[in-house]
Parts: sequence; structure tokens; C-alpha cells
Amino acid sequence: MFAAVTLFVLMCLTATTHADHHQPCHTPNMTGFMTLMTLKGEIRAFGAFTYDSTGRKLRFRSNESHPTNTSLGLDLLMLYDEGIFYEIDSKNQSCEKKALQCTQHPLDIPDDAKFLATINSGSPSIEGEGIKINVWTGRMRGSKGYYAMSVTMGCLPISTLYFSEPTSYLISNTDVELEIKDPDLLVVPSFCLGQPLEETPEGTVNSFLNEFM
Ligand SMILES: *[C@@H]1O[C@H](CO)[C@@H](O)[C@H](O)[C@H]1NC(C)=O
Ligand SMILES: *[C@@H]1O[C@H](CO)[C@@H](O)[C@H](O)[C@H]1NC(C)=O
Ligand SMILES: *[C@@H]1O[C@H](CO)[C@@H](O)[C@H](O)[C@H]1NC(C)=O
Ligand SMILES: *[C@@H]1O[C@H](CO)[C@@H](O)[C@H](O)[C@H]1NC(C)=O
Repeated sequence: MFAAVTLFVLMCLTATTHADHHQPCHTPNMTGFMTLMTLKGEIRAFGAFTYDSTGRKLRFRSNESHPTNTSLGLDLLMLYDEGIFYEIDSKNQSCEKKALQCTQHPLDIPDDAKFLATINSGSPSIEGEGIKINVWTGRMRGSKGYYAMSVTMGCLPISTLYFSEPTSYLISNTDVELEIKDPDLLVVPSFCLGQPLEETPEGTVNSFLNEFM
């Protein structure tokens, strides 16, 4: 939360910073945990993710037993290159296949993101007490919102803020490791194969974030 507030203040303060020639980096293969919360303080989901940055695949499984009232039980497999995703119900061995209209997600910086600033969170001069962060911003596709994404110098995503109406979201990543621990999580489950593509209702923009709104 503090990071969110700091960032917001920073965005306001540095609105006049000139865009420079930084190119957005691309995040590596990762395994970790993700927390999605609204800026009203509701935890929408907490769970483990697996991300293949080469094959552009993302699996997120929320932990329904995480002790919050508002978290959603969701198991998503997003296949960005194919432009589709699956909502998986492993208990039920059932699955829904949907088209992705928006490929933005909180684990990769969009190619058209604008570099905002480098900030030192914590202390830059005391060993182990600070972290240097690059902040990237851009427009959310399919809505009027903006995002601000913070990554480490090695391009590990720390958090992403989505400023949108009526609700803004903060997504933060923890315990990130630079490997795909279980590649099977990125394979479409057999019970999902042959599933027909569901129609997207008029006016709906399917995206990772949209699943939590
Ligand atoms: C990421 O993981 C995929 C699937 O295991 C692999 O094909 C790819 O080479 C990995 N990418 C990197 C940069 O290690
Ligand atoms: C889910 O959350 C509960 C409570 O925080 C924890 O005990 C459990 O290990 C978690 N399960 C997974 C699969 O992360
Ligand atoms: C959880 O939600 C229910 C219904 O919305 C509410 O009555 C209850 O007080 C909430 N519990 C906690 C611990 O927030
Ligand atoms: C199983 O899937 C059906 C839809 O295919 C759903 O209506 C039902 O609630 C699911 N049951 C459980 C226990 O998740």
C-alpha cells in the first residue's frame, strides 16, 4: 500500500519528466505469488503464478483458502500468442475457453510503455536496505485507465497499479524465482482440449485483469 501511495505521488511529481530513450525490458521466465487487491482494500485474489516469457503463457491459480473474505477462486491459463485463455475448474474437470481481446498483463511491460523514472525505494546507500526500481506507464487497453508498472533493474516485476474507473487495482508479486518450476502447469489440461470457444458478449474486453473485476 505504501509503495502504491509513493508511486502515485511520484507520478504526479514527475509528470514533467521528459521521456528518454529507454526501451521496455521483457521479464524472464518466473514462478511466484501474486496478490490482487483493489485500492479500496479488498483482496481480490492471492495465489501462485507460473510465467513463460518466451512462449507468452501465464498460469495463475488463486488460493481460495487464503484468509480473506473477498478473494475469488480462479484458475486461469492465458495463452497470449494464441489469443485465448482457459478458466479451469480442476475439481470439476471442467473448463471454459475464451478469446483474449487485450494481452496486457501484470507480468510483462507492454512494448509501447513509457519510461517514467528510476526510484530508490528504501536506502540507496545501505547495503541490502534498498531497491532500485524502474517505473513504466501507459494506457490500459480497452478502458480509459492508466497503469504504472515497477520492475527491478533485472526486469522482475514488483507491482503494477491500474488506475481505472470505478476501481483501481494494485497487483504485487512476491517470492519470485527465475524458473518455471512445474512446466505441466502451462500445458492445456486434457479435459480442456476440444472445448469450443465461448462467444465474447458485446462490449466485453477479456483480459487477465478483467477476470478479477
Ligand atoms: C522459458 O521457458 C520455456 C518453456 O520451458 C522455454 O522454452 C524457454 O526457452 C524459456 N526461456 C528462457 C529465456 O529461458
Ligand atoms: C493457501 O493458503 C493457506 C492459508 O494461508 C495456506 O495454508 C496454504 O498452504 C495455501 N495453499 C497453497 C496451495 O498455496
Ligand atoms: C465476510 O462477508 C460477510 C458477508 O459479506 C460478512 O457478514 C462478514 O462480516 C465478513 N467477514 C469478515 C471477517 O470480514
Ligand atoms: C461444475 O461445473 C458446472 C458447470 O460446468 C458448475 O455449474 C458447477 O457449479 C461446478 N461444480 C463445482 C463443485 O465446482
